[in-house]
Amino acid sequence: MATKQKQAETASSDGAGGSGDTLSVTDNRTGRSYELEITEGTIRGLDLRQVKVDESDFGLMSYDPAFTNTASCRSAITYIDGEAGVLQHRGIPIEQLCEHSTYLEVAYLLIFGELPTEAQLERWVFDVTHHTFVHEDIKKMNEGFRHDAHPMGMLLASVGALSTFYPDAKRIDDEEERYMAAIRLIAKIPTLAAFAYRHSLGLPYVYPDNELNYSENFLSMLFRMENTYQPDERLAKALDVLFILHADHEQNCSTNAVRAVGSSGVDPYSAVAAGVAALYGPLHGGANEAVLRMLRRIETVENIPDFLESVKDRKERLMGFGHRVYKNYDPRARIIKSHVDEVIEATGENPLLDIATELEKQALDDEYFTERKLYPNVDFYSGLIYEALGIPTEMFTVIFAIPRTSGWVAQWMEMNQDPETKIARPRQVYTGRRDVDYAEIDQREGAEKITGPPARRPKKPRRGA
Ligand code: CMC
Repeated sequence: MATKQKQAETASSDGAGGSGDTLSVTDNRTGRSYELEITEGTIRGLDLRQVKVDESDFGLMSYDPAFTNTASCRSAITYIDGEAGVLQHRGIPIEQLCEHSTYLEVAYLLIFGELPTEAQLERWVFDVTHHTFVHEDIKKMNEGFRHDAHPMGMLLASVGALSTFYPDAKRIDDEEERYMAAIRLIAKIPTLAAFAYRHSLGLPYVYPDNELNYSENFLSMLFRMENTYQPDERLAKALDVLFILHADHEQNCSTNAVRAVGSSGVDPYSAVAAGVAALYGPLHGGANEAVLRMLRRIETVENIPDFLESVKDRKERLMGFGHRVYKNYDPRARIIKSHVDEVIEATGENPLLDIATELEKQALDDEYFTERKLYPNVDFYSGLIYEALGIPTEMFTVIFAIPRTSGWVAQWMEMNQDPETKIARPRQVYTGRRDVDYAEIDQREGAEKITGPPARRPKKPRRGA
């Protein structure tokens, strides 16, 4: 135990209650003081447990429903300084990576901790490129979805299904198996994503082309209609930069999901499927889709003031603004913004860009947003690039999932090698009743009908059998 208990008198006599990197806490219920060790800017949550009213007391816990001030792990992968708007992977600023690197090299950096040598990179790219094909049965599984199934739902299912094709991945302590899972996940996710897209259009699936690089191949699997397809270099480059920008973002909702599910010892495909599920939500990966819908709803630059008023009246949310960690301009948004013009130059004008630019300007001139430190995040402009590339809105989150896979894999690997890893199992503050006797059915009271959601009739007939 990294703490020692002291009596209140001792604490009050030396003022701060101790010296060095410690925190003195006095429990005013008992008058006892405790000295908690501070390491790397944190105290151990478990050190609070010794704070008890009496011996039968369970001990003090911290209550932090959305982990807003709780570090769930130690990690050496991604550094963020939200106040300063800094993002670094393995210590390298995101700006330098976007300028000099490629997505696959960044994926290597995240997973192995160092930039690869030429030989290492060659082998890595070869391995990823030669695992892009998926088993034909995955294709058949995909074909079973309804034509209008959301591609993110399809991706979620197919990533989870990969675990059944690679059962040896369950051997998570085997280094070779971990490496193969990393390769397969990074290699196959663009193929699964593109299959989901082609399915939603009723188009034949396009197989990977190993002559193309990672982002070119993805564009080819999305858009190829004849035997050859040559993606515009500028667009492939912009997509590669977007992939770099989305590769990892430390303990965000989906990464936390991967770590939490992975901590049970499940195979990496299942853990990454949990990440895909978390990313699906509109407050996380779904935000870029929501941004485009919002811009379309605003319709014209003239409607912006009214829209911003409704945000302030809390009738709307300004999607693509705000971040749990960044309380400054998201550095990723700045980089994306610098690529928007280049993409629009290759693809032609987009009226939504004018609305987005003016919306950003007016919001940043408004105290409501600046006081709350609400700045554009990565999703504010990424959707515009995806749209310019000809990618439908429903695919945006799917595209986010492609590069984030390398971050999930890196974090999953780090978690597996961390000697402090245990199965994630938070505590709760129980607020319900206790020791209630079971009532026989004829002795229960309540309304004649079920009230609330289960009794509501859907406005339009529900799908399916
Ligand atoms: N529009 C209007 N008001 C907002 C917004 C927004 N987008 N975001 C936060 N606020 C307000 C919020 O109402 C609150 O105001 P008050 O203090 O008066 O109640 C204040 O700002 C603090 O917000 P919060 O909800 O406590 O912040 P949070 O850290 O819980 O939420 C967030 C972070 C990203 C969920 C939120 O900012 C949001 O919903 N943004 C829009 C969705 C979005 O763009 N998400 C993408 C995030 S970046 C991609 C990723 O990493 O997944």
